[in-house]
Amino acid sequence: MNFRMTNEAEFNLAYEKSISNRDDFWDEIATYYHWQNKWHTVEKCSMKDASFRWFEGGKTNICFNAVDRHLKENGNRIAYIFEPNNPDESATTITYNKLHEEVCKYANLLKHFNVQKGDRVCIYLPMIPELVYAVLACARIGAVHSVVFAGFSAQSLAARIQDCGAKVIITADGSFRGLKSVSLKSIADEALVNCPSIKHSLVTRRTNEPIQLGNRDVEIESLLEEMGNTCDITWMDAEDPLFILYTSGSTGKPKGMLHTTGGYMVYTGYTFKNVFAYEDGDTYWCTADIGWITGHSYIVYGPLLNGATSVLFEGIPTYPDPGRFWEVIDKHKVTQFYTAPTAIRSLAKESLEYVSKHDLSSLKVIGSVGEPINEEAWQWYNDNVGKNNCPIVDTWWQTETGGILISPLPNITELIPTYATKPLPGIEPALIDEHKKEINELAASGNLCIKRAWPSIARTIYGDHQRYIDTYFTAYPGYYFTGDGALRDKNGNYRITGRVDDVIIVSGHNLGTAPIEDAINEHPFVAESAIVGFPHDIKGNALYGFVTLKTDKKMDETLIRNEINKYISEAIGPIAKLDKIQFTSGLPKTRSGKIMRRILRKIAEGDFSNFGDISTLLNPEIVEEIKNSRV
Ligand code: PRX
Repeated sequence: MNFRMTNEAEFNLAYEKSISNRDDFWDEIATYYHWQNKWHTVEKCSMKDASFRWFEGGKTNICFNAVDRHLKENGNRIAYIFEPNNPDESATTITYNKLHEEVCKYANLLKHFNVQKGDRVCIYLPMIPELVYAVLACARIGAVHSVVFAGFSAQSLAARIQDCGAKVIITADGSFRGLKSVSLKSIADEALVNCPSIKHSLVTRRTNEPIQLGNRDVEIESLLEEMGNTCDITWMDAEDPLFILYTSGSTGKPKGMLHTTGGYMVYTGYTFKNVFAYEDGDTYWCTADIGWITGHSYIVYGPLLNGATSVLFEGIPTYPDPGRFWEVIDKHKVTQFYTAPTAIRSLAKESLEYVSKHDLSSLKVIGSVGEPINEEAWQWYNDNVGKNNCPIVDTWWQTETGGILISPLPNITELIPTYATKPLPGIEPALIDEHKKEINELAASGNLCIKRAWPSIARTIYGDHQRYIDTYFTAYPGYYFTGDGALRDKNGNYRITGRVDDVIIVSGHNLGTAPIEDAINEHPFVAESAIVGFPHDIKGNALYGFVTLKTDKKMDETLIRNEINKYISEAIGPIAKLDKIQFTSGLPKTRSGKIMRRILRKIAEGDFSNFGDISTLLNPEIVEEIKNSRV
């Protein structure tokens, strides 16, 4: 069996084998990687106790596979083309040799600060090469990286550091975002006040703005020069932890999804190669941030495991103008381009000239991730970026899944706009109806579950396995429940319709309602709040907040609206700000005190047609009031 499937027959064969003979299938795929010791058991998995073990007995190292393995034959190949925020600053290239040296220096630096196998290292950096070096350095020495998106606030950063007990943080003075810069170091300083587990804060330079150095702070640039540029590999058991990445949940506390070494490596490398049909000589570009799972799996690990050349982009799509993406594709002759529907929608609003003045003919495959792509955006992407000549891979997956589970394969799968289409080898989706029964007919809709484990499924929620079981394996015993709803056509193609739980996807960011409500409720004037999503032209969904104020407090409504958003920015980050805030004297609640969000969702959408049964409400009269004062 080939690692890369090149036609429908090969795909069918691979899929069939992955289902009928799962162990042999993954056994064969895993041999494409370097293992210091071979595994004795391909997999031992149980959905019941959420226990997933892949390639046990095997020893490997993902950094070795991503970097060292390519050095002998392809050391001079470019791993990354770094495209800075400012287009006047020239792009730089990082070969695999250079990547190896820098990663080793970072690994030696971590060792210098006594970071050992199993220790957690928090990484809070902008999209600069140092972020990749830091991530791979952790993997090289067996430290567990926890990257926190640089748009998160001090409180969010602190909560993530506290949850995993990180010993060291790697951060920067600041980050560039278009014309603005953000002082990351001062955000980190604010967070670290409440993070006693951090022994050292290692600071690299990007913006060169003045920073304050406290007791735990170390400027690392000159220190790195003293570090050796080779560093022994720490061979890891296949199930040794690789990283923790936080995602929103239905309570205020974020879930630290833990991924381990062997299975994650096998799956991300395999899916990168196949979904993007990557071949030597191609230049791939994923516009995500490494602070999200897309960046972990398809900027860092997946591409490097395949010895790929990627663009690493520091900037934003609209700086210096909304043609930046298209300019960069043209400049670096990008062959595979992977972005989010929200970016496509916002750029589609701009003059077509921004696209048409650039030569995009290098493109072979274009991709989408993070939220459902609506038909209009799909068509615009197809017509104007792909020029009706590039397959669009609409890739469905999650932080929890580690890698892409449902996606077309370029020039193999028949494309249907808005459909993520077919499961990849090893993936068996199921739709479950309201009676918790799996639906056998092909054409159907229901809650999307996965029947059997795949190598890169998250192993647990760090420090809380029971929460992992409760969240994903309890609603439908025997299945992994994704939290998404889906539609399946008569040919077995899947279309993801959106979240069916308390998570709202805003501009591709996964936001839980609970942490936002917790932030709002911190305001001294707020009695209670409820957040729902409503459709938004560019963001996909935007947030609508229903807020009840304490009756004895009087304040200007505009002022309090601003303050509420300030509280949210401080607790989570600007990405979670509300688009609309409606003040109401109460929230619709059932007799057991549960907020009936279904009604709030309809009101936020402006759909007053049918609220369904509201007789179980404790306060049915509130519905009319909320409806009449909708903002
Ligand atoms: O609702 C689905 C949506 O994003 C959720 C996962 O978010 P996160 O863990 O942040 O990972 C995003 C990047 C993989 C999913 O439960 N989602 C992701 N991709 C798609 C999607 N919805 C529809 N179509 C997609 N292609």
